[in-house]
Formats: sequence, structure tokens, C-alpha cells
Amino acid sequence: MVRNILITGGAGFIGSHLVRLFVNKYKNYRIINLDNLTYAGNLANLKDVENSPNYVFEKADICDFSAIQSVFDKYAIDSVIHLAAESHVDRSITDPFAFAQTNVIGTLSLLQTARTAWKSFENKLFYHVSTDEVYGSLGKEGFFTETTPYSPHSPYSASKASSDHFVRAFHDTYGLPVLVSNCSNNYGPYQFPEKLIPLFINNILHNKALPVYGKGENVRDWLYVIDHARAIDTIFHGGKTGETYNIGGFNEWKNIDLIRLMIRVTDRFLGRREGESEKLITFVTDRAGHDLRYAIDSGKLKNELGWTPSLQFEEGIEKTVEWYLNNTEWLDSVTSGAYQEYYVKMYGNRTQQ
Ligand code: NAD
Ligand code: DAU
Repeated sequence: MVRNILITGGAGFIGSHLVRLFVNKYKNYRIINLDNLTYAGNLANLKDVENSPNYVFEKADICDFSAIQSVFDKYAIDSVIHLAAESHVDRSITDPFAFAQTNVIGTLSLLQTARTAWKSFENKLFYHVSTDEVYGSLGKEGFFTETTPYSPHSPYSASKASSDHFVRAFHDTYGLPVLVSNCSNNYGPYQFPEKLIPLFINNILHNKALPVYGKGENVRDWLYVIDHARAIDTIFHGGKTGETYNIGGFNEWKNIDLIRLMIRVTDRFLGRREGESEKLITFVTDRAGHDLRYAIDSGKLKNELGWTPSLQFEEGIEKTVEWYLNNTEWLDSVTSGAYQEYYVKMYGNRTQQ
């Protein structure tokens, strides 16, 4: 094996697509997927690669410093692609400590392990996967660039901003070779149905209310998850150490317009009259501190490394809706048990029309 790459959070949504891409594309890399399988981590996401000779799974918590040290020793790790995190904004509003613990302390524990385990930094790399939410919220105009000042508003984005700062501090203080990327909203298969798109597809399927926060006027910039994984691959192999790259699809949608599109596509796949499920739309109390608009300028990544998204959004949504409707077993398994409690706590009294 020419590289031993530790991918953290590889059993989650984006991590599982990245693991699959690397395991299949780079047969001479050993991919070590480290994940402690929280509610969002699911090894079923990786069924198709679990027996590949260049893939191993290690169940461990990134906050457990000695467990991480053992994994570094056991596999002679030379590169890290760090995705493990608490990732849902709504959960960060009810339980901010969990976000500080995993996203800040967990990242610090990985950085400190890499710094001490690597006797030389030659041919080593610590790649940190982050979010555009660290930049805060835009008005009607403009884009986030790599030089936009940080202005996080939710406990989630504050914890991710803090982790980004720690990564850069380890580069500036100790010379650790790092890369950071900040990406916009991802969608696609295997996303946990707490996030807008899979939550709403599942609710349309079951004729449940669709809880639209506020007036549905917030804007997000959507990118198909496999295009994010491709971008990470491009940056991992070609990015300049110490640099940051923004990743996004120049694909802004107002929530309510996206929801109406999703309804039409899902109704069509379900054999309902297109638009029939609009009756499920229910405007509910807005998310606290809800950022109005995100929009990423990914020009640096395109101009310097040649990456562009491969999918048009309408095509991506069709593929996504089709995937969830063809994988109802997966949906049913992840929405049983603790999910039901979460759902009632989150939406129980707010989704009646
Ligand atoms: P996810 O919630 O689907 O997956 C997170 C994974 O991390 C899970 O497998 C979970 O088990 C694991 N994990 C959580 N805490 C852990 C711990 N203490 N130790 C080990 N493993 C742990 O998240 P996602 O949407 O795939 O996001 C992955 C990364 O990408 C995150 O860092 C997130 O901030 C970032 N990101 C996400 C998006 C998006 O739209 N989803 C966009 C930009 C950046
Ligand atoms: O921008 C990148 C970020 O995108 C990632 O860093 C986060 O990990 C990821 O969760 C995502 O954050 P958002 O908060 O933008 O995604 P979410 O799917 O939770 O919400 C998308 C929009 O839809 C947002 O404006 C809130 C709204 N929404 C969401 C839910 C869950 C609703 O109106 N109703 C809902 O029930």
C-alpha cells in the first residue's frame, strides 16, 4: 500500500461516499474508516465495499486520544481526511455541548495525535472537511470566498469554526501540513432523514406534514454529495498545503421553491398527481438564529485545480428521490427507535395543519 489514509466519520453521509470513492478508485491505498457509529453513522451505508482488501473499519471515538494513537500506530497512518462531526444545526441548538465535544475536542485530539505520531511531516497530510456555515449569513447579494471573515451563528457552525481555527493554528504553530475545505449543503443517497431533503421525501412518502421553518425564504446552495467527494479527492491530491478551498455548485434555491420541486418529483415517482402533496406543507416556528442565505464562490477550486460539479440539480434531485423510494428498508431502519423520540421532540406539536 502506498498510502494509509485515516478517514474519520466514514460511516456517515458524506464520509461513506468518500470511502467508497477512494476504496474503488485507489486500490493501492489502504482506507481506514474510523467512526464511533452515533445515530448518524451506519455501516449499512458501506455494504458494497466492506469486503474490499484495501478497506478496514475501526470503531472509536475521535475524542479518545489513546484509542486514536493506537490506530495511528497500528496502521502507520500517513494522511487523515477528517469528517467525523455532529452535523445537524437543530440538534446543536438543543445540545451544544455535544458539538463542542466532538467537533472541537475531537478535532484537537486528532491534530495532537498526528503531530506527535508523525516524526517527520514529509509526505504527511491532515485534511479537514468543513462547512460554509462558518462564514455566517449573506444578504440578497454576494458570495462566500476563502477570505470572507468567519461569523458563525449556530452552536454547530461555532464549533466547526473553532475546529477550522485549531487546524490552521497547528499549521502555523507546528508546521503540520494541513488542508481545509468549506462546502455548501450536500444532498443525495444515505443522508440521515433529519436534514431537509431526506426528511421531506420520507414525510411525503408517509403523507406526513412538511415542517417549513419561517416562510421558507431562506436560501441554500446545493451540491450532489458525490461531487463533494470528487472535490475532496481533487483537493487531497492537488491542493496546496496550508490553503483553504471553497466547494459549491453555484446552485442557490429558496427553501420553498426546492420543497415544491421535491414534491412534484416525489409525487410523480409515487404515481400521485404532481403537486398533490403540497397540501402537506406546514409553516412552523422558525429555527432560532436561522441564517438567511448561503452561496459559495468555488472559483478558486475551479481555476486552480479544475474541479466543477458533474450533475445538474434537477437530475440530482431525481436520482435522490428515486434512491430513497427504492431504499425504503434503509429509510425504515434509520427512522425506527431513537429517531421517533427525536422526531416527536422536534416536530411533535408543530406539524399539525
Ligand atoms: P453525518 O452526521 O452524516 O456523519 C457524521 C459521522 O461522524 C457519523 O458516521 C458519526 O457516527 C461520526 N461521528 C460523530 N461523532 C463521532 C465521534 N466522536 N467519533 C467518531 N465518529 C463520530 O455528517 P455529514 O453530513 O456526512 O458531514 C460530514 C462532515 O462534513 C462534517 O464534518 C460536516 O461538518 C461536514 N459538512 C457537511 C455538509 C452537509 O451538507 N452535510 C456540508 C459541508 C460540510
Ligand atoms: O451549508 C452546509 C451545511 O448544510 C452543513 O454544514 C450542515 O452539516 C448541514 O446540515 C446543512 O445545514 P442546514 O441547516 O443548511 O441544512 P438542513 O437540511 O438542516 O436545512 C436546510 C434548510 O431547510 C434550512 O434553511 C432550514 C430548512 N429546514 C430544515 C429542516 C430540517 C426546514 O425548513 N424544515 C426542516 O424540517
